[in-house]
Amino acid sequence: MSKTCCPRVIVNFKVYSEVEGTRAFNLAKICRKVSTESGVKIGICPPMLSAAAIAQLVDIPVYSQHVDPLAPGSGTGYVTPSMLHSTEIRGSLINHSEHRQPIESISKCISMCKDLDLVTCVCAESVEKAVEIAKFSPRMIAVEPPELIGGDVSVTSANPEIVSGTVEAVKAVDPDILVYCGAGVKNGEDVKTAIDLGAYGVLLASGVVKAKDPESVLRDLIKLI
Ligand code: G3P
Repeated sequence: MSKTCCPRVIVNFKVYSEVEGTRAFNLAKICRKVSTESGVKIGICPPMLSAAAIAQLVDIPVYSQHVDPLAPGSGTGYVTPSMLHSTEIRGSLINHSEHRQPIESISKCISMCKDLDLVTCVCAESVEKAVEIAKFSPRMIAVEPPELIGGDVSVTSANPEIVSGTVEAVKAVDPDILVYCGAGVKNGEDVKTAIDLGAYGVLLASGVVKAKDPESVLRDLIKLI
């Protein structure tokens, strides 16, 4: 799989009230517009209830916010890789800080998704965790210090070492993995710093989802790429 398949910016809509109902569709269309006009690939993780419908509507990468390592069959309230594969959704976040999974589940999710050509972006809270996850060779690893998530200070300024350290350590295990960083990322300078630190891109949420004008925030985020 080539690098160009992967977004520089991934917007996780989370379950904010700002993306309930049709508002998730509106934000997805804004992300698509900015991505198409700028040529910078933007991926999105809409709320689970609307993700499949949004993936049919927009031609930018749509990922699930979570996936469970389950085969189709009896099981209630899960999202299986096979289910994702049956839609236009292209992959999934795994082990987000707000939806942690044990390491065995992470490994199984990655492997099941790979079998179905689904892209995986696995979150890690530390360099050590990222290295542990890198052994399973997901397509992307996103390092996010939990204490900075949802705040106003970007990981790129609060803890640049975790970004460069993760890039170096992950690449030593598997140079094909694309490393992202997230937590507090809000503007184009933060994105540029992330890339200067060796990251391929950023994973962010509140800076876009909770913005009064998400379109101008998105344009600002990608302006220095
Ligand atoms: O999934 C992205 C996220 O955890 C970072 O959130 O609001 O700090 O951009 P935020």
